[in-house]
Amino acid sequence: MSRPGVLTGSAMLVENGRITQVGSASRIENLTQAKKAKEVDASGCVVVPGLVDCHTHLLFPAPRLSDYEKRIGGATYEEIAASGGGILSTVKAVRSSTAAGLEAAAARSLGLMASHGTLLAEAKSGYGLETGLELRLLRALHRVNGPAEVVPTCLGAHAIPPEWKQNPDGYVAHVCGELLPEVARHKLAEFADIYCDDTAFSVEQAARYFEAAAKLGFGLKIHASQFSSIGAVELAVKWGALSADHLEAIEPSDVELLARSETIAVLLPVSVLHLGLSRYAPARSLIDAGSAVALATDFNPGSSPTPSLPLVMSLACAQMRMSPAEALTAVTINAAAALRRVESAGMLASGRPADFALFNVQDYREIPYYLGANLLKLSYRAGKPVYRQGGI
Ligand code: NIG
Ligand code: FE
Repeated sequence: MSRPGVLTGSAMLVENGRITQVGSASRIENLTQAKKAKEVDASGCVVVPGLVDCHTHLLFPAPRLSDYEKRIGGATYEEIAASGGGILSTVKAVRSSTAAGLEAAAARSLGLMASHGTLLAEAKSGYGLETGLELRLLRALHRVNGPAEVVPTCLGAHAIPPEWKQNPDGYVAHVCGELLPEVARHKLAEFADIYCDDTAFSVEQAARYFEAAAKLGFGLKIHASQFSSIGAVELAVKWGALSADHLEAIEPSDVELLARSETIAVLLPVSVLHLGLSRYAPARSLIDAGSAVALATDFNPGSSPTPSLPLVMSLACAQMRMSPAEALTAVTINAAAALRRVESAGMLASGRPADFALFNVQDYREIPYYLGANLLKLSYRAGKPVYRQGGI
């Protein structure tokens, strides 16, 4: 993670949406002239792979401003949820939205994310919590034709919906027996995720969900140990989950388990900052123990309303002691691995898609250093410009 492979005085040749050559600027310039190709001057800039945001809840109809004010007034995330705000208030908003309204909301989020360098984003459902609406959310995510590619994940087990409040096990059985099979049948998601915590689903319920999801061929993801350590990491490792996400409350024994596993640790530091908390996931211990760490925004209306991966990198460096090189790896190739996209995203090399971002900086370390600044100048997807500072 600490060797991002920086090249200087270099250039790339792009043909038919793919990178066909990477090499010294003078050699590539000769090739461009011979082929009469268009030149993009990136001098004075850093070119990075299109950023990959591997954990988001980007499809939400409205911000949760009263939750925000309640939190500032001292209420906790769990207290807000218990008093009628939280995830279930977004579920209510989704239940009264139209398909077109949901698509517009997704497009808006995606545009914001792309304007900070993201070109590939995971997007979870989880605000419908009934089969028809979860399918509607996933369909809206498939349809949204934004500047970034979307990888939808089914988060049918995000919260217990009000109509199942007295029977959470019944809801889990319903999700396993109806929702997941429908999502699989219509090929609407590659991954299945569950929120496992002491105020959400239990480890036993998550085990049932994983069993059903694995049988249907979903890659497994889990919101693990955001607030409490109840054995979610152990479960993730046991089931060979692709990623275990959050991890703010993990124990040292979980660090060892993750380091010895193939499960990627996805860390979401803005949710800690935004909730006014101070316990970040132990990124340093995870990396030093040999775990693969990715970073993501967790873009959602409750705990992390940021579309910016550069901001996530800034926090990872300043608060979690990750180096700028590690943070860059964590939002590119490691994030691509958390979405099973290592062959096509997160790295610039000959033969790969020409998905890249130009930042207005001389050194990649400036990307996290200037926290809160949006230094993205241009980005290209499959060789076509999709974002230009000040407008395309
Ligand atoms: O990852 N903790 C659960 N889910 C989200 C928050 C979703 C919301 O508050 O709407 C998270 O932080
Ligand atoms: Fe999340």
